[in-house]
Amino acid sequence: MIQKVKSKDLKVGMYVMLGQSWLRHSFIKPNFRITSEKQIKKIISDGIKEVKVDTSKSEVLEDRNLFIDVLGPGEGKPKKVAIELPEEEEFNPIDMISEELRETIENTRIPPQQKAEVVYSHSLKMMTNILEDPNPENILSGKKMVYDIVDHILADDETADAMAMITSHDYYTYTHSVNVGMLSVLLAKALFKDSHDHNMKELGAGFFLHDLGKCDVPLQLINKAGRLSDEEWQVMRNHPRRGNKLLSEADQLTKECGVIVMQHHEREDGSGYPFGLSKDEIHLYARICSIADVFDALTSTRAYKKKLPTFDALAIMREEMLHHFNQELFKQFVLIFKA
Ligand SMILES: [Fe+2]
Ligand SMILES: [Fe+2]
Repeated sequence: MIQKVKSKDLKVGMYVMLGQSWLRHSFIKPNFRITSEKQIKKIISDGIKEVKVDTSKSEVLEDRNLFIDVLGPGEGKPKKVAIELPEEEEFNPIDMISEELRETIENTRIPPQQKAEVVYSHSLKMMTNILEDPNPENILSGKKMVYDIVDHILADDETADAMAMITSHDYYTYTHSVNVGMLSVLLAKALFKDSHDHNMKELGAGFFLHDLGKCDVPLQLINKAGRLSDEEWQVMRNHPRRGNKLLSEADQLTKECGVIVMQHHEREDGSGYPFGLSKDEIHLYARICSIADVFDALTSTRAYKKKLPTFDALAIMREEMLHHFNQELFKQFVLIFKA
């Protein structure tokens, strides 16, 4: 019999059916018997409020106490003694998501398209966790996960191509970090394919975390349709500095992360922020990120605007934002979508 059960009421032994969408949950198999409290916590942290449970396949242990028969000296009949099972140890949700991701990447039977979807959905969950709680532990776990993702994008061309397709859709708020992260890694891959002079993993971490400082910017400000007031604009313009500070406090401010987070809003003609740097004053890594950043902003649906198709966004960037980007980098960026 199939029953609907609130996630908070799930118990070890229940056979859950989560549905097929990887965007909804971070388990590889959608249907399984719960074997640990960890899995219940993960279902809850995935934001799932209610699940279907197949009671015919469930075997629930009603009590957390385990009873064993003990026979004392001189006693004829064994006594039942309760032993309390230890609580499950605390876990970091990003480490769990990361573990699942690695299993998927290493599974040779999963086709590239499906792998790309899992990489995407898991990255999204990782960014959600980091931006909702940018503590040092989450930042470090997130960076380690990005290292795996970058390794995979570099090693597997088919999955990389499939990712370029996926990033052209949009899902919800945190997709921007993931889209910019992936597009920037794809552009860096194209630019640095013959070079070993770049730490691609650290670069990836910088790209994914470029807007880390936005965790403090109120949502109504991020989604505001009209012009920002001077005060609001000041809050917005502070996010590169804030991101740097968070990374520094987490002891994760590498050179790559530093220049990307701090300079991704600088523009070639000096019209950007926070410093108004121009041309070569802007680090190459930040220039890569700024192209992916603007492209994703144009091709995403926001509360106040419709998304543009890829072709139109690239056309606007080429014609109307000509002086914002390095033209050679932009040409390489356009080639990513030729696949
Ligand atoms: Fe930004
Ligand atoms: Fe951004």
